[in-house]
Amino acid sequence: MTTSIPLGLLPDTATIAADGSLEIGGCSLLELADTYGTPLFVYDETHLRNRCREAVEAFGYQNVVYATKAFLCKAMAKLAYEEGLLLDVATGGELHVALSAGVPADACTFHGNNKSLSELRMAMTAGVRQIVVDSFDEMDRIDSLHGEGLPVPNVVLRITPGVHAHTHEFIATGQDDSKFGFNLGNGDAMRAVERARAADSMHLLGVHCHIGSNVFAASNFAKAAEVMASFAIPLDLPELVLGGGLGVAYTVGEEAPTISQWGSVLLDACAAMGVRSRISVEPGRSIVASAAVTLYSVGTVKEIPGIRTYIAVDGGMSDNPRPVLYGSGYEAFLPRAASSERTETAHLVGKHCESGDVLILDAALPSGVVVGDVLATPVTGAYGHSMGSNYNKVTRPAVVFVADGVARLVVRRETFEDLLACDLG
Ligand SMILES: Cc1ncc(COP(=O)(O)O)c(C=O)c1O
Repeated sequence: MTTSIPLGLLPDTATIAADGSLEIGGCSLLELADTYGTPLFVYDETHLRNRCREAVEAFGYQNVVYATKAFLCKAMAKLAYEEGLLLDVATGGELHVALSAGVPADACTFHGNNKSLSELRMAMTAGVRQIVVDSFDEMDRIDSLHGEGLPVPNVVLRITPGVHAHTHEFIATGQDDSKFGFNLGNGDAMRAVERARAADSMHLLGVHCHIGSNVFAASNFAKAAEVMASFAIPLDLPELVLGGGLGVAYTVGEEAPTISQWGSVLLDACAAMGVRSRISVEPGRSIVASAAVTLYSVGTVKEIPGIRTYIAVDGGMSDNPRPVLYGSGYEAFLPRAASSERTETAHLVGKHCESGDVLILDAALPSGVVVGDVLATPVTGAYGHSMGSNYNKVTRPAVVFVADGVARLVVRRETFEDLLACDLG
């Protein structure tokens, strides 16, 4: 069965203009490609704000901590903070960007399974809202910084609850066999609570879990909430953090719970267990993924009779490594003919020197894709730009935010000079 690109995979303000071309935020995708070049990330600002507001509505003001690893630049940090979200930063670099955006340190939660001494020093000196402590070694480092006279940080302890989320093994994090957190099953979690409670170097606020990313099964979240509630209730601590991980639909036929439905699952499970602590969550993907499309230019159409057609674009694994990393699926469409039936099949590939540099295997595409066409892949707002690289010294794409007919360049395209910025010769 062939389909045109479903509107449900496009950002909230996507509309088809009278000439059949696609507009987002009142801006023509073809004009954006013309003005800013390709590859280009186009984010619908209204969509971003809608998802932030949905999350705040579900969980309450400042009970939503945006996981910046999904997509971070100063404009995104400011937008999330303006909408009443706090920020989850997982490295000194993410903290630096958040602070540079003007987000106060006490709106930032500091994560990471292997925070260095200097990252912890940075976080404690800046006065982050809380540190999510991941290991006994990290506790040793916090003790030693306390010895240097740094302020005592608020901490929550990351617990691995022994819940195996249904997702790709690289992004499942809640099972016992994990590099993250204190294991609940073997007693480490309770030992960590006892140590944190007894320490002068930290102030224990609560416990945290994050079972994985791109999880669709509401039952996985409910199970984790129940396991964490059973552990947390007797501790009688003020905070319970239930992580992020809500999946999103990337391809035709996929369906994910909404943020509001996710909120009900988690909050109902906690209420049923009798949790009285403040409950917060850390969504990343579900806030930003479907807010963006990536625009590419087609450079080569290679037909191999009797075998297949390859359509090569001017980006690839350097702006979207997810297909290579996880075998993730995407869709593609032609912004100049957004409602065209996609009757053809081709491998959509990038420009990198690897046969594995594939964006979409057997992509459904309209007929008549030609060199010079602008192609778009939707749902590229999460873990694309943020996981991108300079492989083959390809410069990172620009990012524009669009709203009300106005495009705002928020990250400029890298230049060849940027490629040499750290190269001392
Ligand atoms: C601790 C933690 N919180 C939140 C997130 C965000 O997850 P997602 O983008 O799937 O919502 C992650 C992602 O890996 C994470 O490790």
